[in-house]
Amino acid sequence: SADALLDRFGRRAVDLRVSLTERCNLRCTYCMPAAGLPFAPDDALMTAAEIERLVRIGTARFGVRKVRFTGGEPMLRHDLVDVIARCASLPDAPELSLTTNAIGLAHRASALYAAGLRRVNVSLDTVDPDVFTEVTRRPFLDKVIAGLSAAHDAGLAIKVNAVLLRGVNDHLAPDLLHWCLERGYELRFIEQMPLDPDHAWDRTSMVTAAETRAALSRTVRLEPDEAPRDGAPAERFRVLSRDGALLGTIGIIASITESFCADCTRTRLTADGHVRSCLFSDDETDVLGPMRAGAADDEVADLWQRAMWAKPRDHGDDTDDLVHPTRGMSAIGG
Ligand code: GTP
Ligand code: 5AD
Ligand code: SF4
Repeated sequence: SADALLDRFGRRAVDLRVSLTERCNLRCTYCMPAAGLPFAPDDALMTAAEIERLVRIGTARFGVRKVRFTGGEPMLRHDLVDVIARCASLPDAPELSLTTNAIGLAHRASALYAAGLRRVNVSLDTVDPDVFTEVTRRPFLDKVIAGLSAAHDAGLAIKVNAVLLRGVNDHLAPDLLHWCLERGYELRFIEQMPLDPDHAWDRTSMVTAAETRAALSRTVRLEPDEAPRDGAPAERFRVLSRDGALLGTIGIIASITESFCADCTRTRLTADGHVRSCLFSDDETDVLGPMRAGAADDEVADLWQRAMWAKPRDHGDDTDDLVHPTRGMSAIGG
């Protein structure tokens, strides 16, 4: 339709990622500095009603089909259940999901399910308590595991996101795989991206998708999944035991070495209400300011379309011209 979120390279955005806060109760080394960041003040964040309005504009005008709430840690929002319930009751409600570290999910999983949430992607890089504390700088592994099992019991579909860090948790990848397979969680390994505000990322310490596949292939067989990928970041594999029994499915997200920008279907809203056309682009368009100044839906939609038209082709290649954005992952919203 004329009212679609299109860009100059022929892509159409139908997946919306909405960050709900920049704050987090962990300090993962690849995402946030130990001391935290100068977080936006609470009154600069979109309210539940403002989020509902933007999601409605996205679904009704632009055909957005999926909405994922991210952060920072979205469960730090006290009105998360309300945000989900509002979006779930829109006409043509999109599929709703949440990317979370699962801390506190133990007491909220059923309420989130009742509000209309159906899936969660949980960040968990290791199930070794000491290594967990080293990566996240907080000793909360037990809370994460409790959150995961409560989510499972509540009927939420679960994916686990793991970033492998060389010399830290990479040797534990097979343990994490078997732990997830036993519980029916779909594990995805994500290449570390230069989205740490400390700017410590470097190409040689990044564990590549190829290395991950090789490491896993020492204990299981991986077969490419035939289902169409549809712009999804993850390349999926069936996991088989040595004697050919199907154990489950995993994904590998090769953001750097096998980038998927050409098929990108994503548009993003930061917690302070800026449209961000790409994870890696520093270009942001404020829509919350105009909304608060009285802009009509038409004007907001127009700003959103213009922002997406300027979406860059890709984030540069693997070695020389890779873009390192200024704002870190927690501020952009994974
Ligand atoms: P589903 O496929 O709907 O389950 O979700 P997802 O994989 O898109 O979402 P999730 O929040 O779990 O993200 C998994 C990883 O993919 C995270 O590390 C994201 O930062 C990364 N990712 C998501 N979108 C993009 C993107 O546009 N570009 C890049 N390079 N990475 C992305
Ligand atoms: N590189 C890759 N993935 C990252 N995440 C956070 N920071 C980075 C990074 N620098 C992941 C988290 C979370 C998801 C939204 O993004 O592990 O699961
Ligand atoms: Fe928090 Fe997720 Fe960033 Fe870790 S990766 S500090 S859990 S926002």
